[in-house]
Amino acid sequence: MMKEFYVKAIFLFSIVLLSVIFTSTLKAEPIVIRFSHVVSEDTPKGIGAKIFKKLVEERFPGKVSVIIYPKSEKFTDSQALLSLLFGDIEMAAPSFTKLCKFNKSLRIFDFPFLFENVEEVHRFQNSPTGQRLLSSIENCGLKGLAYWDNGMRIISANKEIVTPDDLNGLTFRIEPSQVFYYQYSKLGAVPISMPFKRIPDALQTGIVDGHENTWSNIRASNLHLLRPNFTEIAHSYLGYMVVTSVTFWEKLPAEMQTEISKILAEVTIEVNRLASEKNKVDRQVVMNNPKANIVSLTESEKQVWKDSLISMWDEFKSDVGNDILQTAQSGKEVL
Ligand code: LMR
Repeated sequence: MMKEFYVKAIFLFSIVLLSVIFTSTLKAEPIVIRFSHVVSEDTPKGIGAKIFKKLVEERFPGKVSVIIYPKSEKFTDSQALLSLLFGDIEMAAPSFTKLCKFNKSLRIFDFPFLFENVEEVHRFQNSPTGQRLLSSIENCGLKGLAYWDNGMRIISANKEIVTPDDLNGLTFRIEPSQVFYYQYSKLGAVPISMPFKRIPDALQTGIVDGHENTWSNIRASNLHLLRPNFTEIAHSYLGYMVVTSVTFWEKLPAEMQTEISKILAEVTIEVNRLASEKNKVDRQVVMNNPKANIVSLTESEKQVWKDSLISMWDEFKSDVGNDILQTAQSGKEVL
């Protein structure tokens, strides 16, 4: 009697256990991609992250979900890179300046006056050398998936800047870049590296007199209301590398890797289109402010800046390597 009871109980328990296992396999938890960035949601990168979420969730219904942390809500870029390695997030899109500590070759993107415009940057990025740089941080556990544009940086300060001498003595917010540190020190400014989210406070309190960024970042964070003078020198390009961790990427099934890469290629086209459009539209918004003073340099004024800065390439040549510098300079590598 007792034995029969135990047999029945074990039988029932096994059925319950099997059905629990069965239902839980059927309802596998979706893969979550947490995507951290530091800018506003209405910038090219902010919109790009949202389009990426939409496409991924449409193409992997119930299987993959994307959570976006915009505006440094959780992490600054430097924190985000560490968080990727620790598995606290799965994606980020920092500017190159934040990635240079993982591979000095990426300093190529910070060289002043190396790229005249965004088209030249694209030519370099699409070359075999540029594509190789996407995998240049894999030995540190980070995988580059795509390049996204923002645009050419503009200098903004509490006084009109026309010549390099005008920067003398100004405290100046820079991204964490050795190249930028060298550059602004050379021009007599006092460069202070700080995360993007600190810029409004730094300008408001006067910790810094000036800074540099793109029109879309300046407008989206209302930085134009804090410093009225802008100088368009087109001295450097602000762009991003969309990154994930090697560990996360390698755990994804091959067909998912392929589809996510395809989605990113689609999003890249849209981000780059928006970047070009927004930099024009947002420039106009800034100009509409009666206090705004936008200085567009003549070729000869620009030449003075070039003469002051191009010689500093020699300081960083060995970091990036001659081949990379030559490819970037010539823009002629066969695709
Ligand atoms: C900055 O730190 O100024 C920029 O890199 C912010 C960004 O992500 O565009």
